[in-house]
Amino acid sequence: MRLSYALIDISNLKYNFLNIRKKINDVRIMAIVKADAYGHGVIEVVKALNSLPEKPEYFGVAILEEAIELRRNNVSQPILIFNPVIENDSDLFSKYDLISSVFNEKHLTILKKANHVRGRKIKVHVKVDTGMHRLGIDYRDAFDFIKKLSRDKNFIIDGIYTHFANSDEKNKSYAHLQLNRFNEVLSKLKAGGINYGLAHAANSGAILDIPESYFDMVRPGILIFGYYPSEVTSESIPLKPVMSLISYIESIKQIDKDESISYGRKYFTKRKTNIISVPIGYADGYNRGLSNKSKAIINGKYFPQVGNVTMDRIMFDIVNENCKIEDEVILLGQEKSTNLQFSAWDWCKLVNAIPYEVLCGISKRIPRIYR
Ligand SMILES: Cc1ncc(COP(=O)(O)O)c(C=O)c1O
Repeated sequence: MRLSYALIDISNLKYNFLNIRKKINDVRIMAIVKADAYGHGVIEVVKALNSLPEKPEYFGVAILEEAIELRRNNVSQPILIFNPVIENDSDLFSKYDLISSVFNEKHLTILKKANHVRGRKIKVHVKVDTGMHRLGIDYRDAFDFIKKLSRDKNFIIDGIYTHFANSDEKNKSYAHLQLNRFNEVLSKLKAGGINYGLAHAANSGAILDIPESYFDMVRPGILIFGYYPSEVTSESIPLKPVMSLISYIESIKQIDKDESISYGRKYFTKRKTNIISVPIGYADGYNRGLSNKSKAIINGKYFPQVGNVTMDRIMFDIVNENCKIEDEVILLGQEKSTNLQFSAWDWCKLVNAIPYEVLCGISKRIPRIYR
């Protein structure tokens, strides 16, 4: 049985990571590997990063289950979970030695109730809201919260962090406002002699363009996977995309002129032509919004995708091209001999998405093949 698959280029992954290292000098890296390492397969990604002498000092994930998966696969670095702890989960933070994001008293109460591994204090990073307004303690309240927390013997304040709303835009004024607010909190803590562990703020946009936001550690996500977070950042770190999406021609049909293709009859053949069918669809993450808009690289040429994308299958009009069943179809990525490419950004422009969404959106049904 042949399947469509995502090809994950481990040497590109390492290349990107090492280039991030070069840019930030001796600052620590928390590699962000949530959402199955942005769709690339977290276990293999972490294994590859950890095979480097310059491996990440920390890992960051969104949810508890992601952190436990890392621990069960022998990842020994500190792991920060961005989502706050919820009732009944607190034992697991201690059991797996995980770091919880905290920003209110309730989080502390829940964590304290846990059945703690003997002698193990609860490690936390305090999340400070400086303007993202998603999660975190308001920067004006952060000092009092942290001061009180620092006196509680149950906890170790391992870090303090904030998150930028638009560090990847040209105009950096809001990012600088957030940075000033964060610096204000840090200065007060320093002046008060309160130890807050590692300070961190920089996501990919800030790593590229706001060196004053590096503090003790940076938190790259999308850069590791070979994409800039927007099209207006600098390209001050050289990158290579890590994921390609590959399928193949499963059938070729000769179709007469003026016949319709696929559900809803949104494409009509302009001449007698050949229509190929490729086994991938919106259930695999190939968005239905790409219908009649995208293209693929087959035998060193682009061909248009035609008709509505269906759940498991898409069609292309190859006219008279001499293609064969089983020929490779590149849906995302680059063809080596011709350099033709269809990148996540090309994809995004057709469906008003961002590369993050395209990469995370490739579903579990698509096997990841590592090279
Ligand atoms: C708190 C936090 N830090 C860092 C990142 C990494 O962001 P990026 O992929 O833009 O580098 C994310 C991702 O959304 C995040 O939520």
